Amino acid sequence: MTQDELKKAVGFAALKFVKPNTIVGVGTGSTAAHFIDALATIKHTIIGTVSSSEASTQKLKDYGIPVFDCNSVDSLDIYVDGADEINHQMQMIKGGGAALTREKIIAAISKQFICIADESKVVTTLGKFPLPIEVIPMARSYVARELFKLGGKPIYRDGIVTDNGNVILDIHDFMIPNALEMEHKINNIPGVVTVGLFANRGANVALIGTANGVKEIK
Ligand code: A5P
Repeated sequence: MTQDELKKAVGFAALKFVKPNTIVGVGTGSTAAHFIDALATIKHTIIGTVSSSEASTQKLKDYGIPVFDCNSVDSLDIYVDGADEINHQMQMIKGGGAALTREKIIAAISKQFICIADESKVVTTLGKFPLPIEVIPMARSYVARELFKLGGKPIYRDGIVTDNGNVILDIHDFMIPNALEMEHKINNIPGVVTVGLFANRGANVALIGTANGVKEIK
């Protein structure tokens, strides 16, 4: 199976977590896009969605699926999203698609985070994938210097402006044995909006696409 077929398999497998008459949190990226395709097949059974990016919002609207403002929703039953990496503790790196801040907000208001990913995303230690950090533009250089002090090599993601009007620094060559501690440290740097480490709020369920089918990990 191709990587995209594995992504499609987990996107459709996530449908079993969608309860009727609920509002569903929807992530961003190519795997989440398959979930949106899946959701479209049962769109009349749900109230609607809260979306983590302009791209996902557009796709949902194209299907005629209602998208609600996050501020109008107290809590969500589930949030379904992909990941750039996930470890065996269900901690993740996210933000390859630059949507990490909205993703973290929706994860925070959701009872369950359902991570959908192909098996290439599963790692023992997070950090091979460059760690994305959303930063207020005027703080870019300062935050980069602070990240150097933590041992990372931050690289400005040139030409990318997030949906929130900020910039992204990606930390390359930065293995993260203690993701909880690193999430806390980076969050505390003034000018950082969000670090793409989802350790404090990891996944509750991971649906991993493998050549032998979809594996469910809790
Ligand atoms: C978006 O900002 C990311 O967090 C995505 O969830 C992540 O990059 C996974 O993307 P793919 O599903 O395209 O691999």
